[in-house]
Amino acid sequence: KPRVFSGVQPSGGLTLGNYLGALKRFVEAQDSGTETIYCIVDLHAITVWQDPAKLTHATRELAAGFMAAGIDPARSILFNQSQVSAHAEMAWVFNCVARMGWLNRMTQFKDKAGKNRENASVGLFAYPSLMAADIMAYHATHVPVGEDQKQHLELTRDIAIKFNHDYGVDFFPVVEPVIEGVATRVMSLRDGTKKMSKSDSSDMSRINLTDDADTIAQKFRKARTDPEPLPEAVAGLEGRAEARNLVNIYAALADTTPAAVLAEYGGQGFGAFKPALADLAVAKLSPLSAEMARLMDDPAEIDRHLGAGAERAAAIAHPILERMFEIVGMVRSR
Ligand code: TYM
Repeated sequence: KPRVFSGVQPSGGLTLGNYLGALKRFVEAQDSGTETIYCIVDLHAITVWQDPAKLTHATRELAAGFMAAGIDPARSILFNQSQVSAHAEMAWVFNCVARMGWLNRMTQFKDKAGKNRENASVGLFAYPSLMAADIMAYHATHVPVGEDQKQHLELTRDIAIKFNHDYGVDFFPVVEPVIEGVATRVMSLRDGTKKMSKSDSSDMSRINLTDDADTIAQKFRKARTDPEPLPEAVAGLEGRAEARNLVNIYAALADTTPAAVLAEYGGQGFGAFKPALADLAVAKLSPLSAEMARLMDDPAEIDRHLGAGAERAAAIAHPILERMFEIVGMVRSR
């Protein structure tokens, strides 16, 4: 039976990239009737320094973002990772399954550690083992993510295969990454070759879900583009990374295809397209940010949802964790 799992880090606010590449698709999976489990990965967030008060705030704000986007805590399981100890316990075993060489190849580690690797946290290096545990603690079969998580999911598959092989079992399913749609890699508004990211030093490079209408309009107006009008067909976007990105964003927000967007706007300049894009983004995002703000007025209620979600998550993960310990040969006597 299919079971969807995915996670988002509570490290700073949500961007349009997180929304289109992840949250919006999480809601679609939930609404299709599949079992869906969504996790706010606070243990992952602290692999780089997080101010404690900001981490608390970001966790609640992310939970509010999930719910405002349409995640229903009754139909999906929504919780924060540190409240379900199975994640950390299973990750330890996976640290003993994964090889140094595998983790050494992870581009996210190389990017985040930067030049001074000696000073990166051990947790940042072991990050993918914890991510594998997130997924496998639920025997999840499908993991919707943006393009940037592809390498981590391949590692998750490698860990599952090696565990099953080493212990001679067929215990962990080998997961399918679900990297689908036009918005799996939303790019920076300042540089069409870089992904839109909450950690980019320029706030003009991204749309934050908390931006107001004027800010959103201004960011799209100032978005980098080339001087040519939009092409009539998708093939004409070749070599025009910034134009492609704006067309993809429009298509994702409008639930249509890039071809349909170009059928409408092909031949027109960005002077006409950018305001239309900004209007669409404001129409889609402002109800969402208003609902987020409303939910944030009652943090205790958010915490109750996360606690209830964690209990339901633990009820699934705990038996799987126990079985894994038995397979490994740990004595379980209580
Ligand atoms: P994180 O928190 O960086 O991002 C959350 C989700 O948003 C997607 N995303 C994007 N999609 C399209 N365009 C963008 N510019 C963009 N930026 C971010 C990410 O691909 C992701 O799907 N390691 C994960 C969190 C994680 C996880 C897991 C995911 C922990 N355990 C288990 C799946 C399953 C991360 O850092 O995502």
